[in-house]
Amino acid sequence: MRPRLHRAALVLGSALALACGAPAAGAEEWDGLPGGAGRDEVYGICGACHSLMIVKQQGLSRDAWEETLDWMVEEQGMPELDRDTLDLVIDYLAEHYGVDKAGAARP
Ligand code: HEC
Repeated sequence: MRPRLHRAALVLGSALALACGAPAAGAEEWDGLPGGAGRDEVYGICGACHSLMIVKQQGLSRDAWEETLDWMVEEQGMPELDRDTLDLVIDYLAEHYGVDKAGAARP
């Protein structure tokens, strides 16, 4: 029913306003995704279906990320991304959540 939905939206709105009330900080903005080209896309596209935690906990090579996203499209119903967006997303993931980031201490 519309009025109820509307109220829920208002409540959510004020919760968000509260959460964002304190400026700066920023640590948990974007669910903790580091800044950089591709962050908007990863946040918007991947966060639409599941927690970004599931993304952040991976440490995959570029190829493995590409395979994961193919799988996301073929089996999980992710809308196929155009080549440019896909490259942007994969570059971002490989840079921030690549094999080196999973614990190995390579420079
Ligand atoms: C249409 C919904 C949808 C979108 C959009 C989506 N995913 Fe997923 N993703 C899923 C589902 C559903 C699962 C859980 C599959 C399972 O565990 O059976 C999943 C699981 C995963 C996993 C865990 C894989 C594993 O080995 O357990 C990763 C990593 C992942 N997604 C990354 C991404 C990334 C990165 C994006 C954005 C580019 C993305 N997903 C976008 C639906 C989606």
